Amino acid sequence: MRLRKKWWARPEMEKDSKAVIDPYAVKGRWRENFGNDNPIHLELGCGKGQFITTLAEKNPDINYIAIDLKDEVLVFVLRKLNEMELTNVRIIPMFIERVDEIFEKDEISKIYINFCNPWPKVSHNKRRLTHPRFLTKYKRFIQPGTEVWFKTDDDDLFEASLEYFEEENFEELYRNWDLSESDFKDNVRTEYEEKFSAFGVKIKFGIFRYREERIES
Ligand SMILES: C[S@@+](CC[C@H](N)C(=O)[O-])C[C@H]1O[C@@H](n2cnc3c(N)ncnc32)[C@H](O)[C@@H]1O
Repeated sequence: MRLRKKWWARPEMEKDSKAVIDPYAVKGRWRENFGNDNPIHLELGCGKGQFITTLAEKNPDINYIAIDLKDEVLVFVLRKLNEMELTNVRIIPMFIERVDEIFEKDEISKIYINFCNPWPKVSHNKRRLTHPRFLTKYKRFIQPGTEVWFKTDDDDLFEASLEYFEEENFEELYRNWDLSESDFKDNVRTEYEEKFSAFGVKIKFGIFRYREERIES
């Protein structure tokens, strides 16, 4: 029998309510799940969670949800949350493709996308997390005025994403082709960002605000 890598990760997560194994059952009830009415911010593809845990510690009055498909990275996020005694984060093991099935309209008021796969082949562009196919999904559950904060090491992905956001009625609030040389104060570094920066790769960063009425689902 073939064992999954880090087979113990899922059972460990199942024991902790900060890991939401069945997020579809919580659709429309995330505030109840957190036990307060604080705003909820979402990170797509959180990896090992340096970014989300840093933000959650800085901002106890904001709730955070972090999604990743890999149990073997999420289990480390969960351990960090427990070490840091953070109660304002939930982690979800799932494919982002189904993200619009776990939130009701207006449940989310900010999205972070950090170093997602650039999917360089044209036939794969639709899998980019900033592609209009995904932006349309996000619009089903974000509040008007929601900002998407997007960072990448990839020039082509960044350039294409500027167009994707414009096409989907997101207003560009900020754009920088070399974040480490910028005067932007609120940056929180991710694991991948540290790796790329150490190799001298320039980090591209943009903030895009959803300005239209939401589309009906
Ligand atoms: C390149 S890593 C970046 C991790 C982290 N954001 C950082 O900047 O250090 C991309 C992460 O997204 C996750 N991921 C990629 N595609 C995904 C998808 N379709 N659904 C859920 N997670 C995905 C991967 O498992 C991986 O942890």
